[in-house]
Amino acid sequence: MTDGEPSTTVAPQPSGSGDAIFEAEGIVKRFGGIRAVNGASMSVREGSITALIGPNGAGKTTFFNLITGFYKPDVGTAVFDGQSIGGMPSYAIARLGMVRTFQITKALARMTVLDNMMLAAPDQPGERLVNVLFRPASSIRREREVTEGALELLEVFNLTKLNENYAGTLSGGQRKLLELARALMAKPRFLLLDEPMAGINPTLGRRLLDHMQQLRSEQGVTFLFIEHDMEVVMSHADRVVVMAEGRVIAEGEPEAIRNDQGVIDAYLGGGSAAGDGGAGTGEPDRDVPEAGR
Ligand SMILES: Nc1ncnc2c1ncn2[C@@H]1O[C@H](COP(=O)(O)OP(=O)(O)O)[C@@H](O)[C@H]1O
Ligand SMILES: [Mg+2]
Repeated sequence: MTDGEPSTTVAPQPSGSGDAIFEAEGIVKRFGGIRAVNGASMSVREGSITALIGPNGAGKTTFFNLITGFYKPDVGTAVFDGQSIGGMPSYAIARLGMVRTFQITKALARMTVLDNMMLAAPDQPGERLVNVLFRPASSIRREREVTEGALELLEVFNLTKLNENYAGTLSGGQRKLLELARALMAKPRFLLLDEPMAGINPTLGRRLLDHMQQLRSEQGVTFLFIEHDMEVVMSHADRVVVMAEGRVIAEGEPEAIRNDQGVIDAYLGGGSAAGDGGAGTGEPDRDVPEAGR
């Protein structure tokens, strides 16, 4: 909106109209001398599958961290579902229904896949001592529901057989799927995914995409996902937001974005060799999940 280049792609459907579930305005984050995010503004429509693209180093991941409460912006505002979330911690934002995936931590790695899922459910019945001691019928019922929900999700992501395995023994791709499945346990209304397809085999990747479509159509879940593969973006996103050098340079429908000269220039000139065919040149941030932080 306030970005310098009024791209043609912005014109047909001005963002920020009534049905935006999320809006960020003028977000800035400096790391030392670098402005990783430099005045980024964008909106996400309720019920959309919106892709966030841009050359490596554009500030996409940092932007995610800023809007989900992991980092504090130096400047800027963010509103989710009509409520200001600026300065809120991530757990409070998640409780409102705006959820991003969390890496499986060391502690979670020592728990089984199923336990990871159970722990991700909000208001987990087993947490309360009184429920452990007396096991009221409501608690038993709730636990059964949570278990069923967990098993269904594990089935979707082909993790059922790994139920009893420790999360730490999963491959990088399986871990990413578990992270996504855990996020879904919270029944989010707005789900943010940072390169969900990276490191996952194509069959599972397709299943993941199908599941996103299904959640959107059946439960009205809104998605914002960072993705490198333009084919995936073109075929699965209804809106695309483009970042370059810390700013949003275009927002619009995939077809319009594909032909936007400003976007093409950003990819060619952005100091990144990443082309628009998902060729996968130099993507240092993609394979990190394997490295057991
Ligand atoms: N914690 C950090 N400290 C210092 N610089 C950072 C930090 N996180 C990101 N950056 C820098 O901010 C810029 C944007 O990075 P990032 O958000 O990861 O981009 P993208 O996800 O679009 O590839 C890069 O120049 C990166 O080196
Ligand atoms: Mg990134």
